[in-house]
Amino acid sequence: MTTMNHRVVLASRPQGGISPANFRLEAVPVPEVGPGEVLVRVRFLSLDPYMRMKMNDVKSYTPPQVLDEVMVGGTVGEVVASNNPRFAPGDAVAGGGGWQEFHLSDGKALRKVDRSLPLEAYLGPAGMPGVTAWHGIFNIIAPKAGETVLISAAAGAVGSVAGQLVKSVGARAVGVAGGPDKCRHAVEVLGYDACIDYRADLAGQMAKAVPNGIDGIFENVGGAVMDAALKHINVFGRIALCGLVSGGYNAEPMPIRDATVLLTQRVMLRGFILSDHLDVFPRALADLGARVASGHLKWHRTVAKGIAAAPEAFIGMLGGANLGKQLVDLG
Ligand SMILES: NC(=O)c1ccc[n+]([C@@H]2O[C@H](COP(=O)([O-])OP(=O)(O)OC[C@H]3O[C@@H](n4cnc5c(N)ncnc54)[C@H](OP(=O)(O)O)[C@@H]3O)[C@@H](O)[C@H]2O)c1
Repeated sequence: MTTMNHRVVLASRPQGGISPANFRLEAVPVPEVGPGEVLVRVRFLSLDPYMRMKMNDVKSYTPPQVLDEVMVGGTVGEVVASNNPRFAPGDAVAGGGGWQEFHLSDGKALRKVDRSLPLEAYLGPAGMPGVTAWHGIFNIIAPKAGETVLISAAAGAVGSVAGQLVKSVGARAVGVAGGPDKCRHAVEVLGYDACIDYRADLAGQMAKAVPNGIDGIFENVGGAVMDAALKHINVFGRIALCGLVSGGYNAEPMPIRDATVLLTQRVMLRGFILSDHLDVFPRALADLGARVASGHLKWHRTVAKGIAAAPEAFIGMLGGANLGKQLVDLG
């Protein structure tokens, strides 16, 4: 086994735009396994928009990423050494190993996973992004057959699951995504009824795509996309406010252009952070795992190779370079 652990730390906080210079690649010895500990070799690292929020030193739902420490992140990998009776070498595990090739754990935040699914599925549809979609769709929007639900970042990790869950209850799913290729994927592969390319005539396409208005919005991006959608929200519409990635999470205000419709249409707007809803995980993961295993839930991944590629892949994902779940394959 290699003796060095390559890892990416936060070197500086972005001032406005993020750049590769905010990260630093380091090589340190692979750690020794202490009493009760488990050493995991990371196979896949998940890159998620919340990491950009953590790079800011501002008040948020989660403490800021510490400078000069390994970037936080969800991982799947394989136990290579264990002094913990719950884990044995060879076990496949999911956990928060961060942006590095090896990580030590006391086992508390490690979860054994079943190899019947590809390991990286546990970072996508059968993991946190999938549960985010599941909670927002079933527990907040709760669509009924025949209703219309609009989903932004429709071809991304969360959005691609959300659209398929909406379809599974007989509701109409309308996606919003960046560019014709993503929109084609949303309709032809993920089964969306329509997809709006927000880079071209957003208002005109929106009006055509939702002739009966919008009953639910699964909001991932905010800004112009959310403003355009709000113009079509129906009476007693529900909004699951999941993310505001169009602002780049630069710690700048993210206004809603006209809140009047929230009042006149009696809209329920619910911001949510998945980590407040850990009770949802067992049911959601069982349901999502079954949907993935049966092939009913389609998913796609965009995979960068090697830990050194993580910063560029992360910046690319924030700008929309990914289709489906953005991962880094660590070999
Ligand atoms: N609340 C929670 O607990 C929770 C948990 C997980 C994720 N989230 C949120 O869910 C959202 C999706 O996360 P994800 O992991 O699935 O990421 P993702 O959708 O796979 O990737 C981010 C996507 O954001 C879109 N985007 C970037 N800039 C945009 C802009 N200016 N306007 C419109 N779209 C833009 C891009 O898609 P296009 O190419 O289509 O523009 C990009 O692919 C994020 O807002 C994230 O913060 C929230």
